[in-house]
Amino acid sequence: VTVLPVSLSARFKGSFAYFTIKDRLPQILTKVIDTLHRHKNEFFEEHGEKGVEAEKRAISFLSKLRNELQTDKPVTPLEDELPDAALWNQYLDYQRNLANGSGELSWFQSPWLFVECYMYRRIHAALAQNPPIENFDVFKEGKAQNFFESQEAVIALCTYFQELLKNIKDLDEKQLQEELFKLLQVSLWGNKCDLSFSAGGDSSQKSSPLQSLGNLLPYIVVNDMEKIWSLFVNAKKRNTEKSNVRVDIVLDNAGFELVSDFVLADFLLSSKLADEVHFHGKSIPWYVSDTTKHDFNWTVKQLQSANHMWMSRCGINWEGNLKKGVWVYHDHMFWTLPHDFSSMAGVAPDLYADLQKSNLIFFKGDLNYRKLTGDRKWEYTVPFHQALNKFHPAPLCSLRTLKSDTQVGLKPGQGEEIQASEPEWMVMGKYGIVQIDAAL
Ligand code: F6P
Ligand code: MG
Repeated sequence: VTVLPVSLSARFKGSFAYFTIKDRLPQILTKVIDTLHRHKNEFFEEHGEKGVEAEKRAISFLSKLRNELQTDKPVTPLEDELPDAALWNQYLDYQRNLANGSGELSWFQSPWLFVECYMYRRIHAALAQNPPIENFDVFKEGKAQNFFESQEAVIALCTYFQELLKNIKDLDEKQLQEELFKLLQVSLWGNKCDLSFSAGGDSSQKSSPLQSLGNLLPYIVVNDMEKIWSLFVNAKKRNTEKSNVRVDIVLDNAGFELVSDFVLADFLLSSKLADEVHFHGKSIPWYVSDTTKHDFNWTVKQLQSANHMWMSRCGINWEGNLKKGVWVYHDHMFWTLPHDFSSMAGVAPDLYADLQKSNLIFFKGDLNYRKLTGDRKWEYTVPFHQALNKFHPAPLCSLRTLKSDTQVGLKPGQGEEIQASEPEWMVMGKYGIVQIDAAL
């Protein structure tokens, strides 16, 4: 039996987990409360007094939550009756037992991943329990704003891509590979644009997403793009005619990142490297900027109706892909549970079985990486395969910019070397990985 390293946690003073729970999470809660305040009139106009009362209840629930967090109170069982509540409460019991039955588990003593997910789940409860504002997404405005502020980058990307489509049929293998690598990198760096990281501040994509790729290349600390290419080439060989090549993208943030994922997905189909792409989003608002079904559809619509020829061309094609069923959107409760992915086969066997049908699963972003590796204090040189701890539904690849202190699969000395020149390298979002696990 292999012993897993300890979970990252705020109990390690001075760690990024500590800083997150002490400062960043309360800031996010404060923003959520402000957002509700700002929408008071809207709630009144839509629902009358009932809307205002619901807003007040939600705010007081959230203030209580913030207080529990800041005074390091025990994490309490969920009291709502939402469909996933029982699983959450079982997980809380499980964490309490792990902590050697020392009774209550407080915010700063718990695993970081667990309490951070728990906070978002309670934010969801604050709204979901309070009709008539139960469907209000407190993060929606921020996500839309990020999209609009990234407009120039979106235009640049859509224009580039539509030009590429014009002669995609004439590209030879080498050129096709080059384009794949470019769009993989755009999707990778698109992950810089997440809003939980800036506590909801500005993190839109400002510069042209394609021009800077060369300069950013040295910051890709694990780069398995060649392996991705071989995987596609082999999948094509094996799958001739009898079955489709299926790619899955486990989405992260809405806004520019989502557009970059769409472009990658379109490229995979247009280049015939793949035949279908399955997207996986969140079923509740999550980690500020994560993509929900609403964000997904909204983004396609925005592009479609944009006042720019290439943007709208993209939007129209993507809507078409969805209609034809070559793009499929899924969500599953599992993605917003606190469990890491090594427990997916047990907790969400249906999801695991679905992912097994994939030829390659992309996991976007930092949170997905934390869940892939169990958010533990791994040595840098531990193989990715080992850190996955038996999670291997299909070949998989993480496209992630580093925003938390877990990284595996580095060469001996590599992490230490970067650390020496840039002590914050793991949490500043400047470094990235394209890391594959293809061993099944
Ligand atoms: O650790 C920084 C952080 O804000 C975490 O809260 C979370 O893991 C992550 O970044 C969110 O980033 P992403 O959108 O890339 O998952
Ligand atoms: Mg995110």
